[in-house]
Amino acid sequence: MSNYHIKHLEEYWQVYRKSVRNPENFWEEIAEEHFLWRKKWDKVLSWDFSKPEVKWFEGAKLNITENCLDRHLATRADKTAILFEPNNPDEESQHITYRELHERVSRFANVLKSQGIDKGDRVCVYLPMIPELAVAILACARIGAIHSVVFAGFSSTALATRINDCDCETIICSDGSYRGKKTIDLKSIVDEALESCPGIKKSFVVKRTHTDVVMKEGRDIWLQPLLDNASPTCKATVMDAEDPLFVLYTSGSTGKPKGMVHTTAGYMVYTAYSFKNVFQYRENDIYWCTADIGWITGHSYIVYGPLANGATSVMFEGVPSYPDYGRFWEIVEKHKVTQFYTAPTAIRALAKENISYVDKYDLSSLKVLGTVGEPINEEAWHWYNDNVGKKNSPIADTWFQTETGGIMISPIPYSTPTIPTYATLPLPGIQLALMDENGKEIKGNQVEGRLTIKYPWPSMARSIYGDHERYKNTYFNSFENMYFTGDGALRDAVGYYRITGRVDDVIIISGHNLGTAPIEDAINEHPAVAESAIVGFPHDIKGNALYGYITLKEAGEGRDHDNLRKEINQLIADRIGAIAKLDKIQFTQGLPKTRSGKIMRRILRKIACNDTSNLGDISTLLNPEVVKDVMAKAII
Ligand code: WT7
Repeated sequence: MSNYHIKHLEEYWQVYRKSVRNPENFWEEIAEEHFLWRKKWDKVLSWDFSKPEVKWFEGAKLNITENCLDRHLATRADKTAILFEPNNPDEESQHITYRELHERVSRFANVLKSQGIDKGDRVCVYLPMIPELAVAILACARIGAIHSVVFAGFSSTALATRINDCDCETIICSDGSYRGKKTIDLKSIVDEALESCPGIKKSFVVKRTHTDVVMKEGRDIWLQPLLDNASPTCKATVMDAEDPLFVLYTSGSTGKPKGMVHTTAGYMVYTAYSFKNVFQYRENDIYWCTADIGWITGHSYIVYGPLANGATSVMFEGVPSYPDYGRFWEIVEKHKVTQFYTAPTAIRALAKENISYVDKYDLSSLKVLGTVGEPINEEAWHWYNDNVGKKNSPIADTWFQTETGGIMISPIPYSTPTIPTYATLPLPGIQLALMDENGKEIKGNQVEGRLTIKYPWPSMARSIYGDHERYKNTYFNSFENMYFTGDGALRDAVGYYRITGRVDDVIIISGHNLGTAPIEDAINEHPAVAESAIVGFPHDIKGNALYGYITLKEAGEGRDHDNLRKEINQLIADRIGAIAKLDKIQFTQGLPKTRSGKIMRRILRKIACNDTSNLGDISTLLNPEVVKDVMAKAII
C-alpha cells in the first residue's frame, strides 16, 4: 500500500530509490494491489530499446473500463464520476454517477458492436468537450476498438490527415459545438474532411447544438436513437496487456503528425498511480483538469487516471473567457474544486486581465494547483501561486509528453518543496539522464543537457502507428539505449530539474547554448510584458543573434518602444548575462500558437531569418492572422 500514496519527502526518496533498484518489483506490487485483472501477467517487463520493443505485464488479461467503471459499482455507484459543466453558465451542470456512466458506456459499446465494429478497429472521435466524448472513448475501450481522438478545434484538413493515417473506418462526431459566444458547425467540417477520406464507412452523429446538418445517406447516422434501443449492459472484451488502447497524434514540426500508439495495462497502471500522487487525490475531492480530451493530458488526467481511482472529474465544455474572465474561478467556487490543473498559456491570458475576476470568488476549496504543456515562466507561476492558490496550494509543474503517456517530472504536493519554473523531481520509476552533444551522460548536479530517459516506464508509447521505423529514428537513435525527449533541461544543486525548452529551439550564440525558457522568463518579468518568444537568426560575428517577439499588457500600451527595448535588455543582462540580450525586438499583437496553446517558435524563426516561402506544417496553427501580421512588421 505504502508505495501507492506518497505523503512526505522522505517517503518520496524511499519509494524512488526502491523503484529504481528494482523497477519490475515496484510496478508489480502496484499492479497487484490496485487493479482488477482477468488474469495476471507471466512477466512484468521485457524491453529492448534498440528495436525498440517494450512490453509490460505480458500475458495479463484485463479490460481498462472494468477498472474505471465496473469495480467502483460496489462502493461508489452513486458517486459522481463526471461532473459536466456546460459552455453556457445558465445551462445546468450534469452529475454523471459511476452507475450512469457505466450504463452509458455499455449502451454506446453495444451500438458500436451492433454496427460491426470489432476489437482492433480504429475509431476516430471528433467531439467537443461534452460527456459523449468520454463515453465514446470508454465505449471503444470496452469492446477493444482503438480510439483516435482528434481535437475538435482542428481543421478539416488536419482531421482528414489523421483519419487517413490511422485507417479509420468509423468516425464519431457531433452536429456542432459551443465555444464561448460561438457555435461551430462541426458536422460540415467533418463532411469536408470526409471528402478526402474514402476509408470512412460510417459516421455517428451526436446532437449538441441542434444545428441544421446534411446527413449523407448510408454513411451518417444519428446516435441517440441507437443508444435508446441498445442494451444497458455490455460484457467487456478481454484484452491482452499490450493490446493497443488508443492512438493519439502529436505534431512534429516537420513531416506528418505522428500517431502515438498506447497500450492497455501499463498505461492504466501508470496514469492511475501518477494521478493519485501528483494530485494527492483523496476520496471526496473534486478534481478539475481544464485540458481538452483531444490532448494526452485529457486522456490520462480527465478520463483514465481519475476514473481508475474512482474520482470525480470535472469536464468543462467552454473557454476561460466566457461569459467573462472569471469563468474558471466561478466554476471552482461552484463545485468546490480541490485540484485545478491548467496550462501556462491560460494562466498568462488570465493574468493579463483585471485581478477582480479572481478575487470575486471563493477559492478556498483548492488544495493543489497543476500546470502542464510549456515551461511556466516565473511571473505566471507567482501570479498563480499568489492569486489562485493564496500561497496555500502547492503548484505541481508537471512535465510530460504525448509520447510518455503520463507525468514524468513533478513535485509531489505537500512533500516536495517547489521552486518557480522547476518541474523538480522524477516520479518513482522514472530514470532520467542529461546527455551532452557527443552522447555522453553528464553526471552530477548543476549541469545542463539533453533530457533522456534510460529505463522503460509502463505508460510509454510503444510505436508510431504504421511507422515503427520513424518511432525508432525519432526517439531512440540520438542516444544509445535511451529514450530522447527532444527537450533540454538543467539539474540544479539539489537535483531538481528545470525544462529549458525544445532542443530544436536552442540557440547557440558565440558558442554558448541558450535555451529559450530562461530568457523568455527574464523578459516576462518586465511589468509591461504579457508574453514573449525568442528565436535565433544568423549573425556574422556571433554566429547567431537573438530576435524577440513580445506582446504587451495594458500597462505597456502607449509606452515608448525604444525605452521598453532598453529596459527589457537590461533585465536580461541582469538575470542571465549580456550575452543573452536581444538584437531585435518586435512588439506584436499576438504570437503564433498551436491549438494546444504552445508558441510556434519554428514559424517565428523563419520570419526572423527572412525565409518565409515555406512555413512547414501549419495545420495545427491556432491563429494564422497573427502570422501575417508578424510577417508584415518583421524587422529584417
Ligand atoms: C512537450 C510535450 C504533456 C501534456 C501536454 C503537452 C513541453 C510539457 C511541460 C512543463 C516545460 C513542458 C515539452 C514537452 N512541456 N509540459 N511542465 N514544462 N515544458 O504534450 O503536446 O506532447 O508536448 O511540451 O517541450 O516535450 P505534447
